Amino acid sequence: MNILDLLQHGDIEVEGRMPYSSNATFLVKLSLGDQVGQGIYKPLRGERPLWDFPSGLYQREVAAYLLSEAMEVNVIPPTIERDGPFGIGSLQWFIDARFEEHYFTLYESREDLHDQFRNMAAFDIVANNTDRKSGHCLIDSDDRIWGIDQGLCFSAEFKLRTVIWEFGGEAIAPNLLEKIQRVVDHPPLEVAALLDADEIEAMIERAAMLAQGGMFPIDASGHRYPWPMV
Ligand SMILES: Nc1ncnc2c1ncn2[C@@H]1O[C@H](COP(=O)(O)OP(=O)(O)O)[C@@H](O)[C@H]1O
Ligand SMILES: [Mg+2]
Repeated sequence: MNILDLLQHGDIEVEGRMPYSSNATFLVKLSLGDQVGQGIYKPLRGERPLWDFPSGLYQREVAAYLLSEAMEVNVIPPTIERDGPFGIGSLQWFIDARFEEHYFTLYESREDLHDQFRNMAAFDIVANNTDRKSGHCLIDSDDRIWGIDQGLCFSAEFKLRTVIWEFGGEAIAPNLLEKIQRVVDHPPLEVAALLDADEIEAMIERAAMLAQGGMFPIDASGHRYPWPMV
């Protein structure tokens, strides 16, 4: 199955509005010939206005996916811009997850997943994620970890808020460092196209700082957590 094709060209049928969503977020059924799947559709029109982010959060959802691909950390489900039943918005592949699991439960019980969480932690710093809740980490049936809800990323001002602090003080492995450094050496144009000039510059700076330091940061303030945490 070609997921990007299905997202881009599939027929969209709204199945319902997602509970616990702060914006109008819809579960949709996708079909293209004999291919079917589900997506999460976030139309611009359903965005709740925020004082600290401009409208168009859906573009940040798309930018987050493109950054994750460019870094080759692959922690964000395929996400595209699509003109859907309620107008332009983001359309993200729905992860058929074990929804009772999330970062806190998995960190404790599954050391084999820690490298995936290290990738996510590095991604969140480069993307400046302000909302990495425990429940925004999903696990699928192949034990792949996926991050969701990346609308509040890429501010020019540093405002990381995440639950993933357990790796703080640890040296970043060389192959992950390379992925971070890539953002500095070859800033991904497809990501930059969705951001303001100061946001692009700040993203490159965050990547440079992280690569140069070579360590996962420690939250000295103890305040860089999202609310609620799960
Ligand atoms: N790609 C996805 N796969 C599976 N479930 C998802 C996905 N994206 C969102 N969800 C589910 O929908 C809920 C609301 O989505 P979220 O991204 O938090 O929306 P909002 O931007 O409105 O806060 C999430 O808590 C999660 O249960
Ligand atoms: Mg949310």
